Amino acid sequence: MNAKRIYLDNAATTPVRAEVEQAMREAADGGNYNPSSLHAEGRRARAVLDDARARIAAILGAAPKEITFTASGTEGNNLSLMGVARALDGRRHIVASAIEHHSVLEPLERLREEGFRVTLLPVARDGRVDPQRFAEALEPETGLAAIMYANNEVGTVQPIAELAAIARERGVLVHTDAVQAPSWLPVDVRELGIDMLSLSAHKFGGGEGVGLLYARGGVPLAPILSGGGQEFGRRSGTENVVGIAGMARGLELAATERAVQAPRIAALRDRLEAGISSALPEVHVNGGGAPRLANILNVSFAGVDSATLLIGMDLAGLAVSAGSACTSGTLEPSHVLQAMGLEERLRGSALRFSLGAATSAEEIERVLEIVPRMVTELRGDG
Ligand SMILES: Cc1ncc(COP(=O)(O)O)c(C=O)c1O
Repeated sequence: MNAKRIYLDNAATTPVRAEVEQAMREAADGGNYNPSSLHAEGRRARAVLDDARARIAAILGAAPKEITFTASGTEGNNLSLMGVARALDGRRHIVASAIEHHSVLEPLERLREEGFRVTLLPVARDGRVDPQRFAEALEPETGLAAIMYANNEVGTVQPIAELAAIARERGVLVHTDAVQAPSWLPVDVRELGIDMLSLSAHKFGGGEGVGLLYARGGVPLAPILSGGGQEFGRRSGTENVVGIAGMARGLELAATERAVQAPRIAALRDRLEAGISSALPEVHVNGGGAPRLANILNVSFAGVDSATLLIGMDLAGLAVSAGSACTSGTLEPSHVLQAMGLEERLRGSALRFSLGAATSAEEIERVLEIVPRMVTELRGDG
């Protein structure tokens, strides 16, 4: 790839960090065997796995046995929702926000087909879930609630601890999709007060194809994969030992660098936002005003089609995303912007810039040279 390209799609995926590659190489040296094997090689792999689990658990404030390794954030969300809903007896109502990722909304659709009732909570125009409305949505039959920690399209951060406290009083288990959080926000399961939490390594430089689900000890969880009973019987399938070693390193780096990186990146994001807003009329910052992740800026450029803009930017050397990253490739209208009450002309002109640990001030200045000029041209005002 051309070295001059500017990558502002870190909410879709982040490059694997050099330290993570190193950790993976070391794990492959000593531990690329089956951790369930009883021989010395297998025991070495088990030691690598146990070590990664303990380090990850320590960062999350969890016990090692509360961590289940998965192949993705998607799998963690599926396992949590379907696994817990099916294991709860009697309580067949589920509450979730309308702006959850598809890997939460689709399993809920399947549960609906199985006879569960699902209430999708509306959000305010800034993308926040109102705690009062959340409390009102909980019924005596509600067993489970799913509210994401931070949204992947607009970056809005939800008041998870407050929502979890409301749910706990009613005996409702809470799942939070924290996939976008670790580089920018503390992820401590006890402080958040949630019962289940999903992460995905490739969102914090930890490599694709590996993730985890935290489930508090005592939470009933029916496996969704059947087989050898790995991961304490919760997730069958031989663990990706090398990938998990990489994820542990990536999570450690995210946690230790956060105090420096989050304010640095927030300042660059604010500079980008201010530069775009002052150079162009009729731009709308989606999620602006709400607490947001440091790295996400979602802007609607009224009058310009986001796909046209995205392609133009790609040709100009700038990688950004329109709508939801995980469904990009097919540019579906964003259910998130719709739930936030955005008019069609703003929904169809939204772009997401997502900065990363490697983003520099020079890159942001170059983006500010490219974007206003391109929008002005496409609007025909130039
Ligand atoms: C909020 C959120 N949840 C879940 C996922 C899915 O994670 P994975 O790509 O590891 O399946 C993503 C990916 O974009 C996400 O942003």
